[in-house]
Amino acid sequence: MKDPVHVIQQIAGAFEQHPSDEFSLIENGAIAGQYLARFWQPVALARDLKPGSAKRIKILGGYHTLYRAEDGEFKLVQDRCPHRGTSLAYGWVEGSSIRCRYHGWKFSGDGQGEDFPAETATYARSICLKTYPAREYLGVIFGYFGAGEPPEFLRFPELEDESAGELLSVATVLPYNYFQRVENDIDEVHVHFTHGEFAGSFGISDIPLIAATETDYGLVNVATRPDGSKLFTHAFMPNVMLREVVTQQDRSQLTVHAAWRVPIDDTSTLSLFIDRVANPDKSMHEKLKTMIDPNELAAKIMSCEMTLDDVDELHPLLPVIQDTVCMAGQGVVADRKAENLGRSDRAIGLLRRLWLRELRALRAEEPLKNWRRTTEEKLQMVELANAA
Ligand code: FES
Ligand SMILES: [Fe+2]
Repeated sequence: MKDPVHVIQQIAGAFEQHPSDEFSLIENGAIAGQYLARFWQPVALARDLKPGSAKRIKILGGYHTLYRAEDGEFKLVQDRCPHRGTSLAYGWVEGSSIRCRYHGWKFSGDGQGEDFPAETATYARSICLKTYPAREYLGVIFGYFGAGEPPEFLRFPELEDESAGELLSVATVLPYNYFQRVENDIDEVHVHFTHGEFAGSFGISDIPLIAATETDYGLVNVATRPDGSKLFTHAFMPNVMLREVVTQQDRSQLTVHAAWRVPIDDTSTLSLFIDRVANPDKSMHEKLKTMIDPNELAAKIMSCEMTLDDVDELHPLLPVIQDTVCMAGQGVVADRKAENLGRSDRAIGLLRRLWLRELRALRAEEPLKNWRRTTEEKLQMVELANAA
């Protein structure tokens, strides 16, 4: 069967032009890739990797081997074995070391050559793997791929509060450029159209006015509706968002939702979210395992074999399918030259200006803004009109 990601990319690619911006392409040393590498990025869900197993991952345009030592700790190392270059992900995990499947070279978790069975011990000690900092947070594995020491890890007290419900984390591959997804995170108006059935369910049936302000961590997008209620979306530079979304199984409730949009390469994106769900649907993990692949449905819609209205409204990732059709519909890499922005795109305009400012500083080797949360308080996400 054809990979639906490729099917969508083929269809979407018909509209592709050379991008006119500096932030969408990340491969081959592009400045946006260099910038993203200066931040911790999620690479996988911890539950997908049992102790003693390894996985080949692609992130920021490059392959790496992620493995889980037998004691449960995660290790991130260069993908290709220094001997003759096969992927270490196909090898064996031994304790906290990894042994290559091809000729058995073994490296410790900190990259030191340990045992090369057909070679001398001296030769083994002379060769090392490149390793990357890795850590687990709320069931997600993060890696740092930049030069030097990693920055302070970005934590979310909004998600850490165990009394507020259960965690639900989901990782999906999106068949288009990551920046389209980053921009969509602060596009409040699309909710009324792309996800129309969710918009009316929490008293947010009116189209809002948008205001956006730069903050210590990125920007806050404030969507004010005619009754005076406000929804706040927090965009953490460079590619993380935090807001509340309508709960899938109970549309009268909101769920805390944090999402990372990381380029796998120029044309596909790892989208990974962590929710803290107040009233979790106990069968959600089972539903996620047995659901029809969201990309398979999006591919059929984009090939005009079905429409979005034909998708089961109980599909656990219905919003992802709806977003994929709209964002892959912009082209695999959107051409922003042909756009006409309006007042509803103010937050997107601000986001692009922040990115351009930082990329220009990076290129000129000038100081970059140290994006960080300056408070440990939870950030405000909703202000209802009748709450005052
Ligand atoms: S390629 Fe890994 S041991 Fe030979
Ligand atoms: Fe959306």
